[in-house]
Amino acid sequence: MSAMNPSIRIGIVTISDRASRGVYEDKSGPAIQECLAEILSGNWEPVVRVIPDERPVIEATLIELCDEQGCCLVVTTGGTGPAPRDVTPEATEAVCGKMMPGFGERMRAISLSSVPTAILSRQTAGIRGRSLIVNLPGKPSAIRECLLAVFPAIPYCVDLIEGPYLTTNEAVVKAFRPKSS
Ligand code: MTE
Repeated sequence: MSAMNPSIRIGIVTISDRASRGVYEDKSGPAIQECLAEILSGNWEPVVRVIPDERPVIEATLIELCDEQGCCLVVTTGGTGPAPRDVTPEATEAVCGKMMPGFGERMRAISLSSVPTAILSRQTAGIRGRSLIVNLPGKPSAIRECLLAVFPAIPYCVDLIEGPYLTTNEAVVKAFRPKSS
């Protein structure tokens, strides 16, 4: 039973050629970790990776975090735009059995109210086994805006894929679980 699962692991993947080479400091991965720490009320463990914009590396990392590390949620940042090396959505789709396009739609809609270039992000989400993978854009400023917009639906999504029971700090995010569930 999922409620008896004591360990909640969440993957945080920064996808950036320059951050992975140490050309600049990764600010987006730590921003995801901070935001999740605010949102989640129970114990959880981050599993952090910083990798280049190479499709085989992205796919292998997502597979490792879902299948070997047992992450119920994997949040990526970067590589969602139109540039030649932006391949995060393609890698996500390649490893997922089901796509969840509503996540990208919601995040783009909310981001468009602050920045017109939000339309350039092809960010998406999908299900691999018992894991939900969600793409965020690479900009540190996009992290909180996008995560808060979709998080109310994430605990119930994780319930439906038979993952652990996620609880949230209601002052930050109120998880929505339909009454009949
Ligand atoms: N979304 C938010 N909330 N804030 C932003 O600043 N930048 C946009 C878009 N989405 C942005 C955003 C820009 S400029 C681009 S190119 C795309 O995300 C893709 O970014 P990525 O390739 O770093 O993922």
